[in-house]
Amino acid sequence: MEKNPDITPFSARPAGPSDVPALAELHAQSFAEGRWSSGQIAASLASPEAFAFLAQKEGAACGFILCRAAAGEAEILTFCVIPSVRRHGAGAALLSAAQKESQRRKASRLFLEVAADNAAAKALYEKAGFCVAGVRAKYYARQTGSVDALTMALEIPPA
Ligand SMILES: CC(C)(COP(=O)(O)OP(=O)(O)OC[C@H]1O[C@@H](n2cnc3c(N)ncnc32)[C@H](O)[C@@H]1OP(=O)(O)O)[C@@H](O)C(=O)NCCC(=O)NCCS
Repeated sequence: MEKNPDITPFSARPAGPSDVPALAELHAQSFAEGRWSSGQIAASLASPEAFAFLAQKEGAACGFILCRAAAGEAEILTFCVIPSVRRHGAGAALLSAAQKESQRRKASRLFLEVAADNAAAKALYEKAGFCVAGVRAKYYARQTGSVDALTMALEIPPA
C-alpha cells in the first residue's frame, strides 16, 4: 500500500468501557470477516485481566488493541487499524503500548494468533520481534477454504 503523506500523527491512549461503541465501529471497518459486536468487546473488556489501547489522530479513533494478561502471560485478543490510515505506524504504536502494559502486569511473554495468509499482520509482528510458536492447521474458515492459524510469541523482559 502507498504511504499517504497527508496522514497526521496519532496517539495511543488506554481504552475503557465508554469506548466500546467506537471500538466496535473500528472493528467493523477493519475486518472483512469475523467482526466483533459491541457485546463481545464489552464482555472481553469487562474482565479485570483485560486492557486496551485506542489509537487516535486529530481526536478521531483509528484503531485499537485489546489484550489480557494473567498468570505471567499476556495475549492479544483482537487488534486493528482502519484501512485509510494503515502503514503510518498506528499498529506498531498500539503493539508497543500493549508490550509495555504486559510488562507492567508482569507477563513474561505476549502471545497472539494470526491467519497464515495475513501478510500485513505477520510482517508487523515479525518486525516487532515475535516468533512463530505453533500452527493450528485449517483453523480459520474462509469462503474459499480454510487457512492455518499461526501462534506467535514475544519474550518480554522484566521491567
Ligand atoms: C495489521 C494492522 C493492524 C497493521 O496496522 P498498521 O497501522 O498498518 O501498521 P504499521 O503502519 O504500524 O506497520 C508497521 C510495520 O508492519 C509491517 N507492515 C504493516 N502492514 C504491512 C503490509 N501491508 N505489507 C507489508 N508489511 C506491512 C511493516 O514492516 C511496517 O513498517 P513500515 O511501514 O515502516 O514498512 C492492519 O493492517 C490491520 O488492521 N489489518 C486488519 C486487521 C488485522 O489483520 N489485525 C490483526 C489480526 S492478527
